[in-house]
Amino acid sequence: MVKAVVFDAYGTLFDVYSIVSTAESIFPGRGPVLATCWRDKQIEYTRLRTLCNRYADFWQVTSDALVFCCEDLGLPLTEDDRARLMAEYERLQAFPENMPALERMRSAGLPLGILSNGTQKMLETALAASGLGNYLDKILSVDAVRKFKTASEAYDLGPKAFGIPAGDILFVSSNGWDVSGAAWFGYHTFWLNRANRPIERLGIKPHAVGTTMDNVATYAVGNRGRPE
Ligand code: LAC
Repeated sequence: MVKAVVFDAYGTLFDVYSIVSTAESIFPGRGPVLATCWRDKQIEYTRLRTLCNRYADFWQVTSDALVFCCEDLGLPLTEDDRARLMAEYERLQAFPENMPALERMRSAGLPLGILSNGTQKMLETALAASGLGNYLDKILSVDAVRKFKTASEAYDLGPKAFGIPAGDILFVSSNGWDVSGAAWFGYHTFWLNRANRPIERLGIKPHAVGTTMDNVATYAVGNRGRPE
């Protein structure tokens, strides 16, 4: 039974690769490679910092990852361009299919939320810029517990905020690692496999898989249970 739906933000609601065109205009021919390095290094830093108990917020980690990748790829990054790319990161494009799908879930009476590594400010700025903010009841940032996903303290923010067990919350992520962490924690999970990636070999499977937010809405509405 699904009594609420919680979304990952980056990659799931917002397209982390929408910065490619700006990256491309600064470093012609290197935009895609920079975007890929940036995302991978950013996630690597969240894991290292959580594992070693050296928290710095997602804004800092994202900037640090950008600086590392530019240096590693031999791309000279000016302070202006760093600020420009970071500003772009704060206003990543939302996938256009999101809005009608979120609307459908809301109309079916499902409360919706975000549970993200992003800071509250990053999430609120991106939601305001994309117009998705009106559809989400709770914006949960791991900043509250100073540990990134996949720490259980981070996933625990969902059941705490909605006041229902994780198993009654559909956790939706496009990131295979995130959906695995959420399933381990005890959520009902939906892997929004937008990029047609193989399943993570972690010995756990999401409850449902689809490729569009529309698939998520159909699943959530079809399995909804009455809120207490
Ligand atoms: C998030 C990143 C990890 O939104 O996608 O939490």
